[in-house]
Amino acid sequence: MKKIVIAIDGLSACGKSSTAKEVANRLGYKYIDSGAMYRAVTLYFLKHYINPVNPKEVQRAMDSIDISFVFNEKIGFSETYLNGLNVENEIRQMHVSQKVSEISAIGEVRKDLVRQQRKLGKKKGVVMDGRDIGSNVFPDAELKIFMNADMDIRAERRQKELLEKGELVDLPTIEENLKQRDKMDSERKENPLIVPEDAVILSTNFLTLEEQVEYVLQLATEKMIEHNE
Ligand code: CDP
Ligand code: CDP
Repeated sequence: MKKIVIAIDGLSACGKSSTAKEVANRLGYKYIDSGAMYRAVTLYFLKHYINPVNPKEVQRAMDSIDISFVFNEKIGFSETYLNGLNVENEIRQMHVSQKVSEISAIGEVRKDLVRQQRKLGKKKGVVMDGRDIGSNVFPDAELKIFMNADMDIRAERRQKELLEKGELVDLPTIEENLKQRDKMDSERKENPLIVPEDAVILSTNFLTLEEQVEYVLQLATEKMIEHNE
């Protein structure tokens, strides 16, 4: 079977990365969490007090950042590394979530990460999730999914996820962050969050994770057969 590219975009916390990860595992594809790349850059900016409105400082920072994904045999998934350090948990914390949409709106940051993302998906056989994957990174992706869910459901899911990682955050704070990011991500000038014309829209309100995974796998199989003909 010829390999395809699966692009999963959508709003925050509706199940993109959990679905993408599992779909990639079952297909034997590579999973790339593009949001983790923006989060890793944001963590670097926070740690090094980079001024986001100083283009020279931003460029210097981008030149000093090395992001990689390293497979962890114990958990069966890849984890995000920033300049050789495992930052998988830290990049999910609220202080990073509160800054990431500002940093990901910077043109130089996007240009650099989009170039890396295209390189990672060049050989196909990849599932990538984010905000601009189907619209900008891989406009020719064979399968594009756009996920959404209601705010209260998304906030509860994110709260549970954070709690499992040891961070207790109240629901209004999470909702505010999700709303703000949805707005900033949709309104930014470069590569905003949009629904690609040819995307399949998937509302995850009443689906379990397993149902989501099976639905995407079914669509992927159809696309693979089409692609092979
Ligand atoms: O998991 P969650 O939906 O909360 O966010 P994420 O996928 O980790 O992405 C974090 C942030 O990175 C988003 O709110 C966007 O600001 C940015 N992002 C982006 O601009 N473009 C992408 N392709 C992926 C993420
Ligand atoms: O990547 P994105 O921010 O869109 O969401 P995620 O990190 O994949 O999912 C957020 C949380 O919701 C995770 O803990 C998922 O396991 C959970 N989830 C769920 O409980 N039920 C679903 N149908 C989908 C996701």
